[in-house]
Amino acid sequence: MCGIIGILGTRPAAPLLVDALRRLEYRGYDSAGVATIHDGRLDRRRAVGKLDALAAVLDANPIDGASGIGHTRWATHGAPTEANAHPHAAARVAVVHNGIIENFRELRAELESRGHRFATQTDTETIVHLTADFLDKGLAPKDAAFAAIDRLRGAFALCFLFDGEPDLMVAARRGSPLAIGYGEGEMFVGSDALALAPLTARISYLEEGDRAVLTREGVTIWNEDGVIANRPVKRVDVSAALVEKGEHKHFMAKEIYEQPTVSGYTLGHHLSADRQRVENEAEEIDFNEIDRIVMVACGTAYYACAVAKWWFEKFARIPVEIDVASEFRYREPPLSDRDAALFVSQSGETADTLAALRFAAQHVRHVIGVVNVPESSIARESGVVLPILAGPEIGVASTKAFTCQLLTLASLAILAGRKRGVIDAAEEARLVGHLCEAPRLISAALAAAPAMEKAAREIARARDVLYLGRGAMFPMALEGALKLKEISYIHAEGYAAGEMKHGPIALVDPAVPVVVMAPRDALFEKTVSNMQEVMARGGKVVLIADAAGVAEGGDGIAASVEMPECDPLIAPVVYAVPAQLLAYYAAAELGKDVDQPRNLAKSVTVE
Ligand code: AGP
Repeated sequence: MCGIIGILGTRPAAPLLVDALRRLEYRGYDSAGVATIHDGRLDRRRAVGKLDALAAVLDANPIDGASGIGHTRWATHGAPTEANAHPHAAARVAVVHNGIIENFRELRAELESRGHRFATQTDTETIVHLTADFLDKGLAPKDAAFAAIDRLRGAFALCFLFDGEPDLMVAARRGSPLAIGYGEGEMFVGSDALALAPLTARISYLEEGDRAVLTREGVTIWNEDGVIANRPVKRVDVSAALVEKGEHKHFMAKEIYEQPTVSGYTLGHHLSADRQRVENEAEEIDFNEIDRIVMVACGTAYYACAVAKWWFEKFARIPVEIDVASEFRYREPPLSDRDAALFVSQSGETADTLAALRFAAQHVRHVIGVVNVPESSIARESGVVLPILAGPEIGVASTKAFTCQLLTLASLAILAGRKRGVIDAAEEARLVGHLCEAPRLISAALAAAPAMEKAAREIARARDVLYLGRGAMFPMALEGALKLKEISYIHAEGYAAGEMKHGPIALVDPAVPVVVMAPRDALFEKTVSNMQEVMARGGKVVLIADAAGVAEGGDGIAASVEMPECDPLIAPVVYAVPAQLLAYYAAAELGKDVDQPRNLAKSVTVE
């Protein structure tokens, strides 16, 4: 995914563009660039690498002009090089793009046959040459951009700037989000409200297929049928504080330590004021009309679904099928109006999850979106939206969003259980009582950070790490492994503890730390037995358990992390903390870029 920004301003645009791009850097950071109009002429500065590289280029070679566009890239077509960095420009037009143009090769061949010379391998460069071709045919800038857009297949959020047109920007959205910002005698375009936060709090969101023409006076928006559309202007208060690191070294650390607070917001939204029952947007769903819930997501959000499967089948006795979105959407599984489909996504923009939702929506009775961004595409296309209220999550590794997803899903499972008559009011109150312990228990888990930092030093030296768990802790083992992989680049694998003897125990070796997640639940003894099988073969175990569990774990444990005692219902939320901090401290120990790991982006809006 990439980040784009456009400014028709009254001040020098370049510093504002770079500042906005810094708030979009979590979306991709392979390269970056800006283009402005100065004395009527387009000018560009680009750099490979993070925003600091572009800032250095601009320091050395400033660029003037109060109109400009900017881009921070997560490479899809074409390596992360300066030449492939956006904005791309040809003749009299410059463009920034988030998405993928699927028919760019045929368009490129057509344009090359008409004499256009390409400088890059990117799909985006095709857009500028196509637009320039229409300009050469005498079309006005807006018409040339619209004509070029008509030829594009694929997903895009676009912003165009034209030579000689300092008071004009053209924007378009298809499959990638784009917001319009309203200033005082200034107008803005941005990938999300975070980017626009310091510039304006007055935002409207383009809908699928919308195109927009902006001047400093305002914007005209056409819908996908070419009819002028009115998109409501909302006040979006994303205070700058929400998108700063505060006293933390990394956004990931800040977001891990925000979990006690934001989990309280989540519970406050999904539970009744007297904390006796679940009360949220899902109240309208008749769970007796549903024979199955299909849950679809990617990455960490998928592991939240895997945990939730346990809760729905236990408390609502409703069969749950889970799948990763990139498999589900092509498997095209049989669905019916006796199904509900539930999609979990922090960003609400993950392309595979959105595509899976669009497939399911044609068949199922209910589409439920569990999202952190209420204005996101997945939210807008869901029948029932359950916000997780984690607040902006900037670190690429998902942390607070995960625990807030879990609490939201646990609330929904309890509500479904009540509606299906599986749990009565007393049981609902008991379970809700355990959910309400989350902020306190997360805080208690965070207090074990020194032990996690010590254990992480063991792990940081390893080349391979195993994570083991049973029951709802099996998805937690998968999540712990993903956290470690994605920010420390150490290979890690999560496994069902009971599966070790069916092959993976061959991997046990003193050089392969084994992290065992064992809260005191019905499977505790079984998990500890698996752990002892590992230790008997020389394996080095890091045991994550409560005090009694650590004591029972037996001698020979390489390291232990003591968790607060907690009910099995809430254990996945609590044990997410060590999963997060082990990875965080290992990555920090190795000097990795914790917030912006290599090759990754915060939300993958391309397939
Ligand atoms: C989480 O740590 C990862 N960065 C990644 O797996 C993420 O969970 C996945 O891409 C899904 O993103 P979403 O929740 O925004 O859909």
